[in-house]
Amino acid sequence: MRDRSARGRVEELRRLIRYHNDRYYRDDAPEISDAEYDALFRELQRLEEAHPDLSDPDSPTMRVGAEPVAAFGTVVRDVPMLSLQNAFSEEDLHEFDARVRRFLAGRAVPGDALDRSGYVAEVKIDGLAVELAYEGGRYTRGATRGDGIRGEDVTANLRTIPDVPLSVPRNPAEGGGPAPALLTARGEVYMEKRDLAALNRGRERAGEPVFANPRNAAAGSVRQLDPKVTASRRLKLWVYGAGRIEGARFSSHWEELSRLSGLGLPVNWNGSRRCRTIAEVVVFYREMGEVKESLPYEIDGVVVKVDDTALQRELGEISRSPRWAVAAKFSPDRAETTVEDIVVSVGRTGTVTPVALLSPVVVRGVTVRRATLHNQDMIDAKDIRVGDRVLVQRAGDVIPEVVESLSAAHDAPGRGSKFRMPDRCPICGAPVERVPGEAAHRCTGDGCVAKRKEALSHFVAKNAMDIEGMGTKIVSALVDQGLVTEPADLYRLERETLAAMERLGKKSADNLVRAIDRSRRIPFSRFLYALGIQHVGEHMAEVLARHFGSIGSLRNAPMEDLTKIREVGPEVARSLRDAFDAPERARALDRLLREVTPLPPTTPAGKGSGKTFLFTGTLSMPRARAAELVRREGGTVATGIRREVDFLVAGADAGGKLAKASAMGIPVLTEEEFLAMLGGKE
Ligand code: IVH
Repeated sequence: MRDRSARGRVEELRRLIRYHNDRYYRDDAPEISDAEYDALFRELQRLEEAHPDLSDPDSPTMRVGAEPVAAFGTVVRDVPMLSLQNAFSEEDLHEFDARVRRFLAGRAVPGDALDRSGYVAEVKIDGLAVELAYEGGRYTRGATRGDGIRGEDVTANLRTIPDVPLSVPRNPAEGGGPAPALLTARGEVYMEKRDLAALNRGRERAGEPVFANPRNAAAGSVRQLDPKVTASRRLKLWVYGAGRIEGARFSSHWEELSRLSGLGLPVNWNGSRRCRTIAEVVVFYREMGEVKESLPYEIDGVVVKVDDTALQRELGEISRSPRWAVAAKFSPDRAETTVEDIVVSVGRTGTVTPVALLSPVVVRGVTVRRATLHNQDMIDAKDIRVGDRVLVQRAGDVIPEVVESLSAAHDAPGRGSKFRMPDRCPICGAPVERVPGEAAHRCTGDGCVAKRKEALSHFVAKNAMDIEGMGTKIVSALVDQGLVTEPADLYRLERETLAAMERLGKKSADNLVRAIDRSRRIPFSRFLYALGIQHVGEHMAEVLARHFGSIGSLRNAPMEDLTKIREVGPEVARSLRDAFDAPERARALDRLLREVTPLPPTTPAGKGSGKTFLFTGTLSMPRARAAELVRREGGTVATGIRREVDFLVAGADAGGKLAKASAMGIPVLTEEEFLAMLGGKE
């Protein structure tokens, strides 16, 4: 953004945020959603960071909340109630962990200190932040957060909330130790969902404005000049920390919570978890995101705190927020954003898929920048165009998709033109054609670079050849530099060539060469899957590998033999034959087989796995039984003598087949040998 327009936007954002601050904090009547407010606030933060010359000590980013209402007395506290930095996604949580580590490293704190401390994760209750003070064990004062230092004195109102103990320990008979001389506890006053619903129903009947959310209801109920009104509302309290406890020093936040709880203050144990790592925090964040609807109270995220109090002190605070804590907000399952462009991506098998490039938006805790549009028909049906406002969703772990175009739904004026699949592949220029009978388009070019990159990335992937360290970026660079055009080329890469590449040092090059070498001997099924033959996924590769045992017998199998296998349909068989018969692909496979040795399946495949047996003469057991044994052990039974037959089992009075087999060099087994081979006497 140019500086002049940045200044204009910064001023506009400050005006907007101040306005909405007043609506939210002073009037308890917000006009925009929290997410919209957060977006404005973050935009301002970003602009101020990018343009330090525009900074202003009066900017809303420098302060929290609004002035206390004059009607209440003011409480000035010496330990300010801080606010929290926000996180909006799982990535942000990892970034928080990284930030904490960097900061501690800069303070020469040993690297494992944070690992030993871990985090405490707590649900973030949507309510009103308050502080309760106890002197000599008696409740003496209650205040709102206000601007952090100065809050409103709402002592009388908070006294009406049943969860607020009027003395601590609440019940001396239950223990909890002696009362501290001075204790300030901090927490959230909230209203359960059903109580809010009931309250709103009553207000609606009385023609009064309803509360938009539990926070407003709690705030509106606590900030009443008449405590009787507060008392009539069903307010509750969770305590999540102490301002100070005289004479006490805790080594961890968890311990602090335990002490507060022991004194009879309500701690939300069900909504709190001690986590060893940030990964465990992410799991908690995900879980809470999933169960939040079923909780009796509203939560809008998860608060994450470094557990060790010594580390907390070391980390300190920055612009009124502690460095040791963060509030990870939940994001919706669906979100609105803008389609910046529609591009096509060319897949491994040449399928050309339209993809929407989106203005980044967080959906279910993950930042989404691309979403598949599936195919031309789908785009037409939903009428999605560049520039449209769209609804994006992520369900489970699926790839993000565009649910609908809001611009189309609202018949927005001045929309872009309709998307049309390009006639030619954007990568190789070969014609793009619609696959007959399907919605998909495909690039007809053989040498398409994009196809090559995808095929190679698939080849090196973990569940294929598992060449560790060979990511998509390196593959792409190798292809671009003309170093690799087909899988066999990977095995001819020199350490020096790799070490000379950007981002790759000597050490990574060494590791990469070792990883490539390790993949030279690989189970046949993985090798087959790595070839990336259409319709041959991991399971199909396993089936084929077990059945044929070697690439030699598979590539020679005629259509009939292929389709005889129960799980192999004509489509798969056709695709296999196409892959093996195309001369250029056959030569590439030969080249690859000079580098790589696919290992025949062992366990759990059967003893006859991949082997073909032919019977002749009279056996002591019925032929059907013998054939069943072969199949049970993973083998195949042939009906006539062919090159692919691995063993001829000859019974009494064997005739012409025996002679032929001997002539062709096919090993001949007696019935005893056959049984011994496939697992003895049945
Ligand atoms: S800790 C320095 N823990 O979220 C620590 N806050 O900006 C400051 N909130 O209005 C707060 N649940 O009242 C903390 N388990 C929890 C919380 C929580 C809700 C509120 C808090 C404040 C906002 C944080």
